[in-house]
Amino acid sequence: MGAGVIARFGHAPAILETPGLVLASVYDPSPESLAEFARSFPAVEVETFNNRDAFFASGIDAVSVCSSAPAHPSNVRDCAAHGLPVLCEKPLAMNDADIAAMIAVMEEAHLPLVAAFCYRFSPVAQTIKRLVDSGAIGAVRSIRLIYNWSLFGKYTNDGGQWHENPYRVGRMLEGGPMVDCGVHFIDLARWWTGSEITDYKAHASWVDEEYEAPSHIWLHADHQNGCHTAVETSFAFTHTAKDPVSLFTYDIIGTNGAIRYDRDGWRFELRNGDGTQIMPGSSEKNFTGMYHAWARALRTGDFSELPTGRDGMVATRIARTATEECIRLRRSRHIPGKP
Ligand SMILES: NC(=O)c1ccc[n+]([C@@H]2O[C@H](COP(=O)([O-])OP(=O)(O)OC[C@H]3O[C@@H](n4cnc5c(N)ncnc54)[C@H](O)[C@@H]3O)[C@@H](O)[C@H]2O)c1
Repeated sequence: MGAGVIARFGHAPAILETPGLVLASVYDPSPESLAEFARSFPAVEVETFNNRDAFFASGIDAVSVCSSAPAHPSNVRDCAAHGLPVLCEKPLAMNDADIAAMIAVMEEAHLPLVAAFCYRFSPVAQTIKRLVDSGAIGAVRSIRLIYNWSLFGKYTNDGGQWHENPYRVGRMLEGGPMVDCGVHFIDLARWWTGSEITDYKAHASWVDEEYEAPSHIWLHADHQNGCHTAVETSFAFTHTAKDPVSLFTYDIIGTNGAIRYDRDGWRFELRNGDGTQIMPGSSEKNFTGMYHAWARALRTGDFSELPTGRDGMVATRIARTATEECIRLRRSRHIPGKP
């Protein structure tokens, strides 16, 4: 459900690459999105629908919810009513109450609701989990996760006309970089440490002043086990530059060593008392890995490999409330800018 950018570039190719899964039907209320989707997969036999009832009557066994976040609650409600397991894109919804209702409706129907945290399935993230669990760096005390980028730039040139990049506008209106990208990092930190976040605080700046949501934001979070996680994320890093650049790094610091990952430098290493181990780099996302796990779970009924609806709720709640606190602070201090 939802045939936009992430369906075309993330979910559909991964479904097509996963043994045991068939991309059977696609629903989107927008005929333009469906046409674009069909153009992207000319060799694939997939039925497209802008009529919801016809979609649900098309003989499907599970649904990936890839619509924009405000549509997730109604999509999930419809899937529950039709007895279908759901893998739902992040952020799960626009507020806590909606996410809680999504979890409840799926639980009442005895159906799994999986949060599509595809970063967990990256070989880099999986290796970090294995190393942390094996004690390779001792007890994890500090995690620093950074993703600063332009989100494809503030402006786009369409047939000689410059206008604001609509994709970036959509992401800023859904809550900005902490809600959009930060949720993945909050989820990774909870998953790697196996420890809940008990306190958190964010600070932000409006490098791009157009939006209510901050375009550059830092989150500091304490875990129950004494670890501290810092997340820095931006959609306004070189967003007006001719040649935008990004910064994407993980540092996991333990009592007996550290793990470092620099995506753009393609450097992934473990340093501890045994020396330095250079490990193979990989993309920070892995939709195919996520779908392999989803297919295994659908086959066996064991969903323990996958992030839960609750994981989605916790990460989204932290990202959203942290962002809202920054917006409140900005208003109270009358920091200059449009909103
Ligand atoms: N996991 C990731 O790395 C990642 C990356 C980008 C986006 N996302 C998330 O994926 C979701 C979609 O993002 P996108 O970039 O594809 O956005 P998009 O705007 O390109 O696509 C959204 C699609 O949803 C459709 N839609 C609207 N209402 C709908 C409804 N009621 N039912 C079904 N479809 C409906 C729209 O017509 C559009 O085609 C968002 O929640 C976003 O945060 C995740």
